[in-house]
Amino acid sequence: MYSHILLFGATGAAGSLFAKFALRKNYKLTIYVRNPGKVDPDIASHKNVTVITGELSDQSKLLEAVKTGVDSVVLLVGGDMSTKGTPLLDGIKTLYPILIAQNVKRVIVLSTPSYSDPKDKTNLFFWFGVRALWYLARDQQLQVIGLATHTISQSLEQLEWTVIRIPMLTNHSAMPVYAGYVGDGRAKSKLSRQSLAQWCLEELEAKNWVGKAPFLSNK
Ligand SMILES: NC(=O)c1ccc[n+]([C@@H]2O[C@H](COP(=O)([O-])OP(=O)(O)OC[C@H]3O[C@@H](n4cnc5c(N)ncnc54)[C@H](OP(=O)(O)O)[C@@H]3O)[C@@H](O)[C@H]2O)c1
Repeated sequence: MYSHILLFGATGAAGSLFAKFALRKNYKLTIYVRNPGKVDPDIASHKNVTVITGELSDQSKLLEAVKTGVDSVVLLVGGDMSTKGTPLLDGIKTLYPILIAQNVKRVIVLSTPSYSDPKDKTNLFFWFGVRALWYLARDQQLQVIGLATHTISQSLEQLEWTVIRIPMLTNHSAMPVYAGYVGDGRAKSKLSRQSLAQWCLEELEAKNWVGKAPFLSNK
């Protein structure tokens, strides 16, 4: 049973929903943000929340965050189409050795179907979507693929990782989630942020997908 989560992305729409779900379930949170002024005041002022401000490249700040006593990590960060370079990928390359050194094992990381899992099957909708994104936002694509491949390359003895790949996000309420693979006949094209947040918190504990990269969608 985990009790203290290090959360990246708490200033974002999905990350702030995750934070609120986790706080309702009495988890402690350390939230690592680059813009503390963007954190929802209800989250920032909560007694179970520690806010650490830093860039993902800042090794000493990341170590400070991990040393607040966290036992698990959720990364709900992602650049937009204007992203240049690979700051998130570079960030996890800095973060993972710190987690391993501090014996923090459980990690959930967000990616997209641009990273293709060997269990995926061809699906024209996603095939065209992914190729369009290569033309529109090459650096963003390199980054989400890098986040997945670098995470998957980690030894499960050192990091109990789950990579989650998501479709288009919506603001609908939490609904049942199907976790599977692209083109498996049941995967759909949308996922609500509330469903994503709830599923991540459940999976953190359930560990049904450790060492796997499921594609999530609402049923
Ligand atoms: N919208 C979709 O349909 C869709 C589909 C597939 C995947 N995604 C991915 O899912 C992610 C989460 O969705 P969302 O709606 O919650 O997005 P969001 O509201 O845009 O939140 C993105 C989060 O990522 C953080 N972030 C971005 N670049 C960063 C960097 N270089 N260093 C540190 N933090 C960084 C942002 O921090 P700041 O507040 O400091 O900017 C923010 O907390 C998105 O970022 C996107 O990549 C979205």
